[in-house]
Amino acid sequence: MSKKIWFLTGNLGKVKEAEQHLNKLGYEVEQLIIDEEISEPQADDLYLVAQAKINQALPHLANKEDMLLVEDAGLFIQNLNGFPGVYSAYALKTIGCNGILKLLSHLQSQDPVMNGQLREAEFQAVAALWNGQEIIFGNGKCPGWISQEINGEDGFGFDPIFVPFDLDGLGNALTAGNYGETSTHGATFGAVELEKKQLFSHRTRALNDLITQL
Ligand code: IMP
Repeated sequence: MSKKIWFLTGNLGKVKEAEQHLNKLGYEVEQLIIDEEISEPQADDLYLVAQAKINQALPHLANKEDMLLVEDAGLFIQNLNGFPGVYSAYALKTIGCNGILKLLSHLQSQDPVMNGQLREAEFQAVAALWNGQEIIFGNGKCPGWISQEINGEDGFGFDPIFVPFDLDGLGNALTAGNYGETSTHGATFGAVELEKKQLFSHRTRALNDLITQL
């Protein structure tokens, strides 16, 4: 009999993505919807946020044998000391992509690729799983830089202002200005196909990291 993992998320796309990875390992993934509001602590790290969500959701598991998954992500901009980070959803709602570009406008350069370090940022994701006994964590990162302007209409969130660094043949991220086998060629996540974005995805990496510990 396959073991059930409840995924606490409002996003069905994330459930599908988790299914892709976990079904083949013999786990059944189902979306967990809780009526009462889950609060996010004022913590500056994704692990604490994910852990707080697990603790609040655990009493809602009908079968204590089941597992519980949460996932939290954010955009961390180096020159803003990691802002918006754990406040990414709030920052998106309030100042949006344009607000982030304004905050970085003093870092404008003629050549944003060569000057990528100045606008360096990374998406980070933490996946946390209650396995019936304890919480195990996986983390994933996607380094890159913030574009000079909004570009592309695909994706969500900060996708239209984020350009990932290229990946080498093994899928590892390179550093600013280096060319690798997988590249968006300077395009933001908002201007590439979802399939392409998945190759760089912090979320997929976090889930894979978690899976190696199952
Ligand atoms: P969540 O924890 O996955 O809901 O992400 C929190 C916030 O981070 C989102 O509302 C977005 O603003 C931002 N974010 C996380 N992942 C991505 C991504 O892959 N692309 C764009 N924005 C993202």
